[in-house]
Amino acid sequence: MDFACEPVSGNENVLGSRAWGRRKKPFSNGRLTRREKLALLGNLGRMALLEIGDGVASRFGFLQPSSSELESLAPPETRLVEDALAFAAEVQSPEVLSHSWRTYYWGVLLGEYRRLDVDREILFAAAILHDVGLAKGREQEPCTCCFVVYGAERAARRLASKGHDPARVRAVGEAIGLHLNGYVSSRLHGAEAHLLSRGAMMDVFGLGQRRVAEELQTKIKLLHPRGNLVEALEIWPDHHLKGTRPEFMISLNARRRRARSVRPAVA
Ligand SMILES: [Fe+2]
Repeated sequence: MDFACEPVSGNENVLGSRAWGRRKKPFSNGRLTRREKLALLGNLGRMALLEIGDGVASRFGFLQPSSSELESLAPPETRLVEDALAFAAEVQSPEVLSHSWRTYYWGVLLGEYRRLDVDREILFAAAILHDVGLAKGREQEPCTCCFVVYGAERAARRLASKGHDPARVRAVGEAIGLHLNGYVSSRLHGAEAHLLSRGAMMDVFGLGQRRVAEELQTKIKLLHPRGNLVEALEIWPDHHLKGTRPEFMISLNARRRRARSVRPAVA
């Protein structure tokens, strides 16, 4: 992928950052080093432990799910929100657009659960565009560049072209780039990047859903129905560039399923 005309600051050692996505070969276009694959596994393990903790807390009545009124969760009416939504509606399929709206809502609600101070404008713009790397009109295919790396660049480029504050555009782009890290620290990367990742993980894998009241989840799913996410998000084997986060996660899931299918039945 050619980034020549748009400089970006940041540390190329930070997995998922735009600077990281711009590394040169052999780890260009979002390919992971061996150490980064281990870090990703560690992040997924952390999410699994959080889920176990939530299960225990819920069982013993210690978990109080977020249950705000739906109307109070709306994004602010700003030009950045409008431009991000207009771009998403222009290029994304209805299924991905709905997934992106739900991801925003889950992010806000998971933020409420943790009482995090959240910039909803940044969170919304990042959530509604977080899968724009897969949308129509794309200049990169997932088999040549990690769609998250490309999507972060594509979203940032579009918002910058509309004259938005470079610092806010940068925050949106970084959150998108990081969102497939399995777990994103709010302390290191900010509440918005953390909640975009958590929101997406909740929508795709159900992780963290005990933290949101079931009735509210039902309302949001009625408003933004879940279609066939596997097809919409192109979660297909041998479709993504080898060694990138999506390919690594899809392979991991396939291996886990195979292991389950050959496990001997217990009498
Ligand atoms: Fe997504």
